[in-house]
Amino acid sequence: TTVYTVDSIPGDGIGREVVPAAIRCIDEVARIEGFEVTWRERDWGSDRYLADGAMMPADGIDQLADGDGIFLGAVGQPGIPDHVTLWGLLIPIRRSFMQYVNLRPVRLLPGVEARVSGAEKLDAVVVRENVEGEYSEIGGRAYDGRPEGMAIQQSVFTHAGVSRVAEFAADLAVRRSGRLISATKSNGILHAMPFWDEVVEETVSRSGTVELESVLIDALAARVVLRPDSIDVIVASNLFGDILSDLLAAVAGSIGVAPSANLNPPREHPSMFEPVHGSAPDIAGKGIANPVGQMWAGALMLEHLGEEQAAKRLVIAFEAALADGIRTADLAGTASTLDFTEAVIERLRSAAR
Ligand code: NAD
Ligand code: IPM
Ligand code: MN
Repeated sequence: TTVYTVDSIPGDGIGREVVPAAIRCIDEVARIEGFEVTWRERDWGSDRYLADGAMMPADGIDQLADGDGIFLGAVGQPGIPDHVTLWGLLIPIRRSFMQYVNLRPVRLLPGVEARVSGAEKLDAVVVRENVEGEYSEIGGRAYDGRPEGMAIQQSVFTHAGVSRVAEFAADLAVRRSGRLISATKSNGILHAMPFWDEVVEETVSRSGTVELESVLIDALAARVVLRPDSIDVIVASNLFGDILSDLLAAVAGSIGVAPSANLNPPREHPSMFEPVHGSAPDIAGKGIANPVGQMWAGALMLEHLGEEQAAKRLVIAFEAALADGIRTADLAGTASTLDFTEAVIERLRSAAR
């Protein structure tokens, strides 16, 4: 039998609730399809930071390098600055493994009530640039409490960085509607965004058939809410893509259902699969988190591993549970994380019989 080695990093908050829930479902589809996943569970995160002063071991990245994939929950805990938790784990993984595409599909799932009109037909994908752009370490602060204090943050957009993510998005658009929206702000961000536009246009024109529409990010945010069905594939910079993905997820019902694949397209390094949402400290420990985003991220991982049949089974099973009215509180239901997970496992089993 095929055995995959996957590093699981539940992390903090609800990550520790939804990761085990999704792992149970993945193990079940693996059993049904006849392969195995060896989970290397990593206790990396905020508790480790509080005990040892680091989110992960010094050679943490090396420890992940030979695996087939990384399955992350979320990191972030009240009392520890977010830049410590995120730059101590999440961002180094994305960057060390050159996961330059952050793929975030979104659609209205069965049984979920549309929040805005047009959302019934929402079926879109955000292709977010994931290693550069507005998320840079370049800049500094000079602030000692006086009003003259300041902080400077530099954006970094490289030709290689923009063109490779645009190429990925154009290829995806070709396999979908043939339409691609580029999120931009070339009317306001003087240097970076006109450059983004130029490189995206140049790259996309090489793929011939794609119809490219550059839309200013502010207007695009409104369009997501007003005409969600007019959107198919969006290519966006790191920050714009981050914001658009929570917005689209909310339009699709809840940020608890949205998945995310941090991909290294050349497959030289492992890719990482996680939900779009964070550690949700406001509901952590209550057993009510929606595990759908984590399960769907698991399905994206199975697809990436070449286990397409297993990925399909998992998606069909959580969709069936939702359609049958088993829903967590964020979707106006009363099911707990455990109730929902058991409903998915039951449906996986009965579909396999
Ligand atoms: P969040 O996504 O954790 O939560 C936002 C809101 O959505 C909260 O009300 C939360 O209860 C709700 N929510 C999120 N996921 C849910 C789910 N699965 N089921 C039901 N409700 C859900 O965002 P935040 O509150 O801005 O951030 C909390 C912490 O998470 C911060 O420390 C932040 O830095 C971190 N964060 C980490 C990641 C990551 O590790 N990938 C991603 C985003 C945020
Ligand atoms: C996400 C998160 C992260 C990001 C944060 C926590 C750094 O919001 O994965 O969407 O902005 O990339
Ligand atoms: Mn985000």
